[in-house]
Amino acid sequence: MGIKIMAVFGTRPEAIKMAPLIKALEKEKEFDTQVAVTAQHREMLDQVLRLFNIVPQYDLNIMRERQTLSDITTAAIDGLDRVFLKEKPNLVLVHGDTTTTFAAALVAFYHKIKVGHVEAGLRSFNKWFPYPEEINRKLTGVLADLHFAPTKRAKLNLLNEGVEEESIFVTGNTVIDAMSYTVKKDYTFREERLNRIDYKNKKVIVVTAHRRENWGAPLENICNAIKDIAKSYKEEVYFIYPVHMNPVVKNTAHKILGGFDNVLLLDPLETDEMHNLLARCYMVMTDSGGLQEEVPSLGKPVLVLRDVTERPEAKEAGTVKLVGTDYERIFKEAKLLIEDENEYKKMANAVNPYGDGKASVRIVGAIKYFFGLSKEKPEEYEGGG
Ligand code: UD1
Ligand code: UDP
Repeated sequence: MGIKIMAVFGTRPEAIKMAPLIKALEKEKEFDTQVAVTAQHREMLDQVLRLFNIVPQYDLNIMRERQTLSDITTAAIDGLDRVFLKEKPNLVLVHGDTTTTFAAALVAFYHKIKVGHVEAGLRSFNKWFPYPEEINRKLTGVLADLHFAPTKRAKLNLLNEGVEEESIFVTGNTVIDAMSYTVKKDYTFREERLNRIDYKNKKVIVVTAHRRENWGAPLENICNAIKDIAKSYKEEVYFIYPVHMNPVVKNTAHKILGGFDNVLLLDPLETDEMHNLLARCYMVMTDSGGLQEEVPSLGKPVLVLRDVTERPEAKEAGTVKLVGTDYERIFKEAKLLIEDENEYKKMANAVNPYGDGKASVRIVGAIKYFFGLSKEKPEEYEGGG
């Protein structure tokens, strides 16, 4: 038997970013690679598993409607405890900053199993933004034995917290690897309505929003600003908003934005559909973490509907602007990019501070090095400032 590696995840973004790594691990004959999902998300996770053809060995199916953070934590701990007891993996791989991520790292620690943290070291330095992700990521970092930092900046954050340099590998972000599977030049959408849009003559703006700290008034501000932009630019602008399945988000989005000719509210898109839509649109307005990494590589401006970010690299490169959740500010910044070609051009530059598509290969190399299967430490990803 080889070295048993178990990838554990639960939500859509974790699945997207773990998928290329799982594919890369499965190619290695020294590794026995398994997948356990908590299914903190259900439909949105299954979309990604289907797309990448991943069939988990374990599926804890924990999602409940309107689940609390404690619901997720306790159900994930309970389920993973049994999985780890039975399988005794040599290494558990977790991704990012969700509650599944933290719970899996904690249970692995209880079982004295080594933990590899993919997308380690991002920090906003604000406990409440993003909530609870900043703390989930920090807690996971405390428990991890191997830290796969996507950028040099992320490595520096870890070093500043006293993490041993030998355990940190700068790899790039696996989301850029995932995009090389999904983004195609002459892509045809399965969602017919997306094929009918005039991407040349309309300014197509893609919107997503779901963050817990934006529930309530901030999300209402975001939706009201979008509604008024849609009304002000009836002919020029077309909004596409694939709405997150969380009922808190869904109810607000449909209540404020339903029924406008130039606002298309959709169910969550499969990730290849989403990535190709991002590649074709005019710009993006989002509070998502992942979109802040993907969209800059496609050369489209991003207005980030948050006050702070744990991903400062694209902001510094100029393709991402933090605009917060204030109605006036969102309206003003969107108006600027719709009306002022120079301002638009300043932001519409393809930059790739987050990866070069080889993150998964570097992570596999680092794991081999860790287990003494190779003498060479993989070369670090050089981008990401
Ligand atoms: C979770 C993560 C967040 C990540 C986001 C990605 C935590 C605490 N939050 O937030 O870090 O950015 O996923 O999308 O880990 N739901 C469905 N079907 C689905 C998915 C969700 O119906 O496929 C509904 C359920 O009612 C569920 C609710 O959405 O209770 C919230 O899901 P949850 O995972 O708790 O929070 P997210 O906001 O999705
Ligand atoms: N995404 C998707 N379908 C959608 C909306 C988003 O596949 O309808 C993808 C998006 O391209 C990115 C990831 O989901 O890869 C981001 O997930 P999300 O915004 O849910 O979480 P975050 O990144 O904020 O943690």
